[in-house]
Amino acid sequence: MPVTVRSFAKINIGLAIGPTRPDGFHELATVYQTIGLHDLVHVSIGRGTASSSVEVTSQDARVPAGETNTCWRMAMEVMRAFGRRGSVHIEIDKRLPLQGGLGGSSSNAAATLVAIEHLLRKELDAADRLQIAERVGSDVPLFLVGGAVLGTGRGERVFPLPNLPKMACVVAFPECGISTPQAFRDWDAISTATGARRSANPGPSKLTEDPPSDRIKSFSRTISAWLGRSHTGVSARGRNRAEALLLDLVRTGIANDFEQVVFLQRPELVRVKRVVKQSGAGYTSLSGSGSSIFGLYSSTTAAQDAVAHLQRRGIKARASSFLSREEYERRMLVAQK
Ligand code: C5P
Repeated sequence: MPVTVRSFAKINIGLAIGPTRPDGFHELATVYQTIGLHDLVHVSIGRGTASSSVEVTSQDARVPAGETNTCWRMAMEVMRAFGRRGSVHIEIDKRLPLQGGLGGSSSNAAATLVAIEHLLRKELDAADRLQIAERVGSDVPLFLVGGAVLGTGRGERVFPLPNLPKMACVVAFPECGISTPQAFRDWDAISTATGARRSANPGPSKLTEDPPSDRIKSFSRTISAWLGRSHTGVSARGRNRAEALLLDLVRTGIANDFEQVVFLQRPELVRVKRVVKQSGAGYTSLSGSGSSIFGLYSSTTAAQDAVAHLQRRGIKARASSFLSREEYERRMLVAQK
């Protein structure tokens, strides 16, 4: 009997890229937020032979079938961790864009873990789950937490944040996909060029103004100041207060560094961001390394109107909303008929 898991998307509310580490990854700091858009991952386990085998299928021919698929690697790791043999079949009903900056393939991997645990009626302990997740990919651990999550390290060190208000959002899907490794390489090229310019000609420059380690520090300072304010409270109450705090966070200059490189490579995304902004969004940003661009709205109606506004201008878009950690957990498993 297969089990079906909703594999939710994330957006990044701010993302600061820091220095390159000896292992080739970049330090980063970001706030991840899970949202209601999702793929469906169907998993079943058949009898094992001498060893485990994994098969991945999808209606989307671009989804890789073998070990380059994050779900394939996750299934192998989890079966090994449980000491079980079996033939695992994973079918991915792809609804999220590939290379869209919404964490689709990482979320698919986390959903695979949840599905196998459910099928085997066993759970890994929390530390093992996180270790396996970070081996599979930098963005996988966040999907074991859900809700609002602070990500540091290469993105894999995750800290649950207090739930943000349930904001309405719209995600615009430009036609192009963006390769994350390539976006990091482009960032390095620009940072090197800017660094050289900065030493030749000290003074303010537009791109990557601060040295990489300062970018992470200032992002972290913004987040901790904001968290401090969100705990001590402000005069407004309830949803309005929570919303004010979120807008406070995004207005304090929290930005996604990837915009600086991705918008140069793909100028058509600048237009998409402008149209999302014009559709009434309080905050607009590239998600991850793109290509998706999201906007935050004060109500579900405003978000639906924004989708119509974007579609009239030839931009694919869908409305959704933030998922709290509790909703994320509760809605993952699709009830069996
Ligand atoms: O961890 P993941 O497999 O998602 O990373 C894909 C690639 O993105 C890495 O091989 C690396 O080139 C780049 N990356 C990076 N710094 C990060 C995360 C990813 O350079 N923090």
